[in-house]
Amino acid sequence: MIGAGDLILGLETSCDDTCAAVVSGAGEVRSNVISSQGIHDAYGGVVPEIASRHHLELVNAAVDDALRRAGATLGDIELVAVTQGPGLVGALLVGVATAKAIAAARGLALAPVDHLQGHVAANFLREAGGAEAIMEPPFVCLLASGGHTLLASVEDHETFTVLGRTLDDAAGEAFDKGARLLGLPFPGGPALERLARDGDPEAFAFPVARGLGGLDFSFAGVKTALLYRVRDLGEEGARERRADLAASYQHAIVTALAERCERALAERGGDRLAIGGGVAANGPLRARLARLGVALGVPPRELCTDNAAMIASAARFVDAQPFPAYLAIDAYASGERALA
Ligand code: KG4
Ligand code: ZN
Repeated sequence: MIGAGDLILGLETSCDDTCAAVVSGAGEVRSNVISSQGIHDAYGGVVPEIASRHHLELVNAAVDDALRRAGATLGDIELVAVTQGPGLVGALLVGVATAKAIAAARGLALAPVDHLQGHVAANFLREAGGAEAIMEPPFVCLLASGGHTLLASVEDHETFTVLGRTLDDAAGEAFDKGARLLGLPFPGGPALERLARDGDPEAFAFPVARGLGGLDFSFAGVKTALLYRVRDLGEEGARERRADLAASYQHAIVTALAERCERALAERGGDRLAIGGGVAANGPLRARLARLGVALGVPPRELCTDNAAMIASAARFVDAQPFPAYLAIDAYASGERALA
């Protein structure tokens, strides 16, 4: 069992960010290093092989940096936590191999962490100087990233139950693909949010998939609607209306996400909502959810996008493997329970 003052070294390399962090057993973030590779833009998306190679080049420096910023050495670390999956196989492998090597060299226990559970567990961290977690369970959690979009019921620290999920694209994917259609760089979410500030969210009516029953999402329709609208406007017309297109497109995605959150809370009789995943960094989404009038867990932006502090946070609640640990990656792992 990890004590409040013990230090956990977290590693996260499931996609294109090479992340290392030091978190205390009480959930205080002592350091949170995120090396964004920034080299995938030229390809319009993450190239798995390139991501793996860059993880290899960056991971040791990220660990050193995380320790230095925390004012710690490896001798102060009690537990090593690493993302086991889901994610890109080669990318995960670099984090897991690094974590195993550190654990083996130091005789430390190793905690395998599910990436989605990590996004949830960002809410279990304390904000700088804060005495309490951002949000403690139970709560409903919207997880929206580049790879996943789901609504979960989080009853405890260990696992969560999926209430609904996207039937096609993830919300982050919709942002990225929409941004690409508007000629914006990858990753598209932040760029589209910036462009949308100069536009009118009501200029175009994009579909919100309201007809979909239950708590599932669909973003294929809104993406196709943008594609057709851009085609109809023609190259020059679309360029002139870029900001309006971005604002209206973002508005449709935010509305779809917020309405499902509202429905989940109504159906489950809950009044506590938390968010996680890269799309949770979106300003208009955060503002919209703040108007729901429920207790809201909103991690700071750097804890919403991929980071290792959330992995170390989740590790406080998983069974660590004592040294020597034989941990395999599981690219398709997920700590979720599906609702039957
Ligand atoms: O959680 P994350 O960093 O990585 C995954 O696990 O996928 O999420 C990345 C996704 C990308 O699709 C990115 O465009 C989106 O999150 N994203 C945003 C914003 N910041 C990141 N989407 C909308 N608005 C943002 N500000
Ligand atoms: Zn993620």
